Amino acid sequence: MTDRYAVIGNPIGHTKSPLIHGLFAATTQQDMEYTAIEGPTAPADGFASTVKAFAAAGGLGLNVTAPFKLQACALADERSERAELAGAANALKFEGGRTLAENFDGIGLLRDIEANLGLPLAGRRVLMLGAGGAARGALLPFLAAGPSELVLANRDLAKAQELAAQVAGRGPVTACGYAGLAELGGFDLVVNATSASLTGALPPVPPSVFSPQGMAYELAYGKGLTPFLRLARDAGVQRVADGVGMLVEQAAEAFAWWRGVRPQTQEVIARLTVPLA
Ligand code: ATR
Repeated sequence: MTDRYAVIGNPIGHTKSPLIHGLFAATTQQDMEYTAIEGPTAPADGFASTVKAFAAAGGLGLNVTAPFKLQACALADERSERAELAGAANALKFEGGRTLAENFDGIGLLRDIEANLGLPLAGRRVLMLGAGGAARGALLPFLAAGPSELVLANRDLAKAQELAAQVAGRGPVTACGYAGLAELGGFDLVVNATSASLTGALPPVPPSVFSPQGMAYELAYGKGLTPFLRLARDAGVQRVADGVGMLVEQAAEAFAWWRGVRPQTQEVIARLTVPLA
C-alpha cells in the first residue's frame, strides 16, 4: 500500500503543500501520496477525530496549518521542545500507535535565511516583529544560530516580555515596544512575524530599524511587496524576501522527518517564487 500523508487546514483550497511534497517524492523516488484535507469548521473537537481517523486508516503523517496548529500540538502524545515552546505544531507523525508533534516553521525560516539567502545569523543584530505563534516557532532556532542580539517587538509588550523571559537562558534576547525601536539603531535582519500583512496592515515600525546592507523578511508569501517590505525598500534595504523559501524548507524538514531523506529545495523554491516587483 502506498504510504499516505496529507495537509489539514480550513480553508485549504490554496495550499501548495501537495505540489511541494509531490515534487519531493518524485525527486527522491519515494512511493507516497500526499493530499489536502479540509478540516472541520465546527465543533472544535472535530479536528482530533479527523486526525485519529486519518491515522487509523493507515496515514503516516500530517502537515497542519491554520487554524489547527494549537490543537495539533495539544493532542500529541509527544512533542519536540520547539513545538512545546510555540504551543503549536505544523507536522504530526503517527508511529507505533503514538502521535508525535513537531514545529518546523522556525527551522525552515532559519534555513531559508542562512542557506538560501546567504545571511548567517551568528553575530548579527536581529529584530523580530510579533510575539504570536509564528514568532514563538522561530525563537529557539534563531537563538541557537548565535545572533549578537535578538529583539522581540510587539504591540502588546507584556506578551513579548513573557516570551523573552521564557527563553532568556538560550541567548541574548530582549523585548521592546514599537515606540522603543527608534532608539535601537539598524538591524542586520528584520523579520515580520506579525499577522499584519494578511490584512494589508503595517506594523508601526520606524524606518530606522532597517540598515541598507541588511535584510527584511516577510513571513507571508505570494503577496508581492507587502507594506512592510515596501517600507524596507524605501529605507534602502536591497535584500527583501517573502516566506516562499520558508514554506518549502519547513516542508523539506517534515519530509525528512517522515521519510528519512532530505529533498533538494532549490528548484521547488524557484518554481513557486513569484517576483516581488
Ligand atoms: P500567528 O500565529 O500568525 O503568529 P497570532 O498568534 O494571532 O498569529 O499572533 C499575531 C501577531 O501579530 C501578534 O504578535 C500581534 O500583536 P499583538 O500581540 O500585539 O496583538 C501581531 N499583529 C497583528 N496585527 C498587527 C498589526 N497591525 N501591527 C502590529 N502587530 C500586529
